[in-house]
Amino acid sequence: MLKSASCGDIREKHVGDQVTLAGWVNRRRDHGGVIFVDLRDRSGLVQVVFNPELSPETYKVADQVRQEWVLRVTGEVSRRPPESENPNLPTGAIEVMAQGAEVLNSSPTPPFLISEESEVDESLRLKYRYLDLRRPRIQENLILRHRVVKFIRDFLDERGFLEIETPILIKSTPEGARDFLVPSRLQKGSFYALPQSPQQLKQLLMVAGMERYFQIARCFRDEDLRADRQPEFTQLDLEMSFVGENDVLALAEELYTSMIETTTPDRKLLKKPFPRITYDEAMSKYASDKPDLRFGMEMTDVTDIALKTDFRVFHGAVEQGGIVKGFVAPNQATNYSGTMLRELENLSRDHGAKGMSYIRIGSEHPLDQLTENDMQFSQGLRMTPPLARELSERMGAGSGDLILLMAGPLREIGPPLNALRNEMGNRMGLADPNLLAFAWVVDFPLLEWKPGENRWDSPHNPFSAPKDEDVPLLDTEPGKALAKQYDLVCNGLELCGGSIRNHRRGVQEKILGLMGYSKEAMRSQFGQLLDALEYGAPPHGGFACGIERLVMRMANEDNIRETMAFPKTQSGADLLFGAPAKVEDEQLRELGLRLIE
Ligand code: AMO
Repeated sequence: MLKSASCGDIREKHVGDQVTLAGWVNRRRDHGGVIFVDLRDRSGLVQVVFNPELSPETYKVADQVRQEWVLRVTGEVSRRPPESENPNLPTGAIEVMAQGAEVLNSSPTPPFLISEESEVDESLRLKYRYLDLRRPRIQENLILRHRVVKFIRDFLDERGFLEIETPILIKSTPEGARDFLVPSRLQKGSFYALPQSPQQLKQLLMVAGMERYFQIARCFRDEDLRADRQPEFTQLDLEMSFVGENDVLALAEELYTSMIETTTPDRKLLKKPFPRITYDEAMSKYASDKPDLRFGMEMTDVTDIALKTDFRVFHGAVEQGGIVKGFVAPNQATNYSGTMLRELENLSRDHGAKGMSYIRIGSEHPLDQLTENDMQFSQGLRMTPPLARELSERMGAGSGDLILLMAGPLREIGPPLNALRNEMGNRMGLADPNLLAFAWVVDFPLLEWKPGENRWDSPHNPFSAPKDEDVPLLDTEPGKALAKQYDLVCNGLELCGGSIRNHRRGVQEKILGLMGYSKEAMRSQFGQLLDALEYGAPPHGGFACGIERLVMRMANEDNIRETMAFPKTQSGADLLFGAPAKVEDEQLRELGLRLIE
């Protein structure tokens, strides 16, 4: 090794030791003839002192180095004079007195400061990702990710799970997103699809008698990207045989709690065991199936009261089958100016809302003495004091509160209402960053009606089994059947999804039939699975957990890109390599492809 110790590991107990260090120049300061260099490697920083009186040659080396040069230094660990101790640095009590130094490499001035967590344009960060990755915050995230995956492997190994790899070049396995396709050279005109998840493969492994499988699996989905979505991401994918819903949930819960308690002990789990809420309850209380449960501000349906106003928007929405729903932001009436409310409305629009209505209730009078002057409404909305009182009582609002409302089908107003609730939770300081509020969302509907397409669709994936007692509903009222399906949510993010599967061909075919698959389409897309189910498929079920989203929550990051080494931009580009990129005509010819302009 070119070094005998790591910069960040040196402590007072090493005073007097001779060390050789190698790392990057984080910062260099010239203090009237003595040069101080903060030398950085993955473990952290240490201050190195270059004194010309101790070694003139070594001082000359230090004189020429600049930020991000690579330096090797030999010297003695020494206690810092009391006045220059730095309590904010783990190595702040000591410094290394350089006796020898060698430049291992130079560097031009980097395009952004690595030594400071300053705001840097994200495209610049991604173009120079190898420099960005030198910054401690993202290094810590990658180290945490490593620990999480290592913990998962050990935990599951101890419980009899086998890690089995499945192919990346495979056939399309529909999971609801668009596939990435790979053209075949040997069979021109045919394509592989990259797996959206190893769903069918893991079910086949259960038929194959593996009983307990997991994989740290790469998945590919060609969908619109968001702060919590990448086209290429990693799942802990898991499947078990001879289990029911509770067995899978118990295993996942033990895995998550022990992992967090071991790898991020400073984060607090809000509730243990994780609460379970039904899909209906989540939609009714939070207008979302991934609510942030760190705070209240639950939603109330006020459709009947809204119809007592003469506001056209409310009446129009209800005539089209919609509802009026909203929540109360306590004590916020005076905190929100017209401009700030417009900002909230714009945020709602970004999440698909047509608009947002509000009522500011002044704090002058208690509710039962409310006057016209105590209330301010968004444009077009009017209420008499008695009606506003009725609304406030229903919603649990009081004087001084801000009421936010949206009108439309729950499907449409759910995402903006949820976004608004999250935003208010953050702005009001209710979303404690140290808390992890996990919960299981259960009892999802098995199928939902697609009016435009005149067929049923599975909200999750088509392999989920109906609740035993709901199987007869498949013939009578499929929309009422509930699935043995569960999602794990944490602080407003869906981390994990899974279900008990259909292990009998008959039920599986019936569901695919309701989803509009003809016999041929079933055979071509699911034939391998349907055939396998006939050969003694055991009852089975499992889940998949997004590793990046888990690390996002554990490291308190808002963007998934902070949890992966080489992420893609919003438009799916890799700015470092310049992918996706044009290819040579010859490559296309070999694949039997021609581009259309
Ligand atoms: P699902 O589609 O719900 O289920 O995905 C499981 C988990 O994977 C993560 N995830 C993503 N993370 C980052 N970027 C994306 N584009 C992305 N898409 C999904 C989420 C999500 O909860 N085969 C089923 C699982 C099963 O039933 O066993 C599946 O893939 O954290």
